Amino acid sequence: MNASQEATRYDSVYAAWRQQPETYWAKAAGGIDWTVAPRATFDANDGPYGRWFPGGVLNTCHNAVDRHVAAGRGVQPAIIWDSPMTGQVETTSYAQLLDRVARLAGALAARGVGKGDRVIIYMPMVPEAAIGMLACARLGAVHSVVFGGFAAAELAARIADAEPKAILCASCGLEPGRTVAYKPLLDAAIGLSPHKPSACLVLQRPQLAAALQPGRDEDWLAAEAAAAPHPCVPVASTDPLYILYTSGTTGKPKGVLRDNGGHAVALHNSMRLLYGCGIGDVFWAASDVGWVVGHSYIVYAPLLAGCTSVLFEGKPVGTPDAGTFWRVCADHKVKVLFTAPTAIRAIKKEDPEGKLLAKYDLSRLEALFLAGERCDPPTQVWVHALLGKPVVDHWWQTETGWAITGGFRGLGLFEMHPGSGGKASPGYDVQALDEAGQQVAPGQIGSLAIKLPLPPSCLPTLYKADDRFRESYLEAFPGYYNTGDAGMVDAEGYVWVMSRTDDIINVAGHRLSTGAMEEVLAGHPDVAECAVVGIKDSLKGQVPLGMVVLKAGVTKDEATITRELVGLVREKIGPVAAFKDCTVVARLPKTRSGKILRATLRKIADGETYVVPPTIDDPAILNEMEGTLKALMR
Ligand code: COA
Ligand code: AMP
Repeated sequence: MNASQEATRYDSVYAAWRQQPETYWAKAAGGIDWTVAPRATFDANDGPYGRWFPGGVLNTCHNAVDRHVAAGRGVQPAIIWDSPMTGQVETTSYAQLLDRVARLAGALAARGVGKGDRVIIYMPMVPEAAIGMLACARLGAVHSVVFGGFAAAELAARIADAEPKAILCASCGLEPGRTVAYKPLLDAAIGLSPHKPSACLVLQRPQLAAALQPGRDEDWLAAEAAAAPHPCVPVASTDPLYILYTSGTTGKPKGVLRDNGGHAVALHNSMRLLYGCGIGDVFWAASDVGWVVGHSYIVYAPLLAGCTSVLFEGKPVGTPDAGTFWRVCADHKVKVLFTAPTAIRAIKKEDPEGKLLAKYDLSRLEALFLAGERCDPPTQVWVHALLGKPVVDHWWQTETGWAITGGFRGLGLFEMHPGSGGKASPGYDVQALDEAGQQVAPGQIGSLAIKLPLPPSCLPTLYKADDRFRESYLEAFPGYYNTGDAGMVDAEGYVWVMSRTDDIINVAGHRLSTGAMEEVLAGHPDVAECAVVGIKDSLKGQVPLGMVVLKAGVTKDEATITRELVGLVREKIGPVAAFKDCTVVARLPKTRSGKILRATLRKIADGETYVVPPTIDDPAILNEMEGTLKALMR
């Protein structure tokens, strides 16, 4: 098939969706087992912008696990856990997964967890993290997974907001060179939170056992073994499946809500559409269950589609070397690998000629998908030349749960346009808008927005916060969802995502709020005011840089204060913030109305040319900042 025929296949499916979106999604819904079929495909009058598949009743766990066993595929591997951190490789078949998930669901039910109750999951990359998520889905309980790199205070904020009945946790996580004791972090978080869970099941890992608090904590494996298997609980299509907290522009994270019906339909559909994977194929998303990529493409989508999912506990480099990704692909016959560009940059840095790759048979690998941040063209070109397979950058967000734009192996469209995130997925009408909400000309930069309604799987709202949902996403451009990203749509329909329009930064594919870091810095007794900006980093894409103005009369030396501030961000937000650079400045550039000019500061730190903002209070300060930041960057 030639390029123009390939483009036609994508074009015709996309056009068919545009003409009859409900027909497109009704057909996709046929890939899911429903206890009661939806009475309609979409209800525009429910929720802030509408709800998908109203009247439908289903169970997500049944669709991800039970139905594959019922269809005779019980012996097929469901999850392959590959852990260079422990030297273990363990395969769980669909039948074994069903047994473990049903028993854990039974154990949770015995501890009072039922439909609609929340369960926090604070786990490293072990199979039990996925088993915990699926057990909640089985009960109709709502899980909220918290990434292990977050500190106790962040975990506490999520416990306080979600008010979980139970918590699933492991005794420890394993990072290169250190064992992270999770349980003391959990104990501290429960201490800080006004809400207390009634039960905690703790997975005791052999690397570090945790002390259990009598009356609240129990051994996970013992509870699971003793429990009776619990059947799937039917839930409404619009009932919540999970809450995933993500960074907003303030310190208070947003609880992105995911429903059951729309999520199952869109994710199942995406496996063939984007990745070209189906029953029996091995799919590996090298991410973490704490992030949306982990929710969607380590756990739910591959299992909904009957694939084998690889769950990897390790890093792209150092565990033990930059050939690990290729070793895992070869050992498990991975068909599609999905990771973040930062991981490829880390591999490129260690093994620029790709010598380690030559040791492995990658004949089964068909494509590499990248997301989490824009892939810089040199990295995409490098890894493409190395692998000789399609390398697809695709753009998405925690809020959407699957790709807004991408390449479509299921539709034959996956040629590379380095620097672009691909074309809009069927389901998304992506437009670049000017400040007045008018579409800009092709190739012009604007705010990237999605015409409402959002497709299935996208957040119907924020947990307990409809107003914040409207304010954050719907108010800027009436009739559209504002992605918070800026970029352009070119004449061929390729979307180019260039930067955020808010104070969110992307560090090693991890989304972080500079506002949250500023709140921590401002809490230090010696700090009068501060700014945190994301500056360019050749490995992590961006890293945060803090600038603080000290209160008058502070005599402590600068090195001590900046060390304290770096420690404070690590303690309050967590090591994942990668906040390592902080400097004391005499003053910060501001507008006449007192707003700190963060975008200008970022440009100065990155050595980019900048326009002196007309609203600046005192232009002379910019020369001062250039001197300070240049000295710091050296
Ligand atoms: N639990 C506890 N701590 C964690 C953690 C976890 N689950 N994950 C990361 N951390 C810690 C790390 O140990 C590190 O701590 P340190 O400051 O003491 O070294 C810190 O958080 C930053 O971690 P990380 O972002 O992994 O940076 P790194 O410098 O250790 O490694 C990369 C750099 C590029 C190898 C790594 O960031 C990476 O693999 N990135 C890919 C990210 C990804 O897949 N994102 C998913 C989006 S699709
Ligand atoms: P998260 O919610 O953590 O997945 O982060 C979402 C944000 O990451 C998006 O709004 C973008 O800013 C950025 N992002 C993710 N994937 C891409 C991509 N392929 N290209 C450009 N930016 C991306």
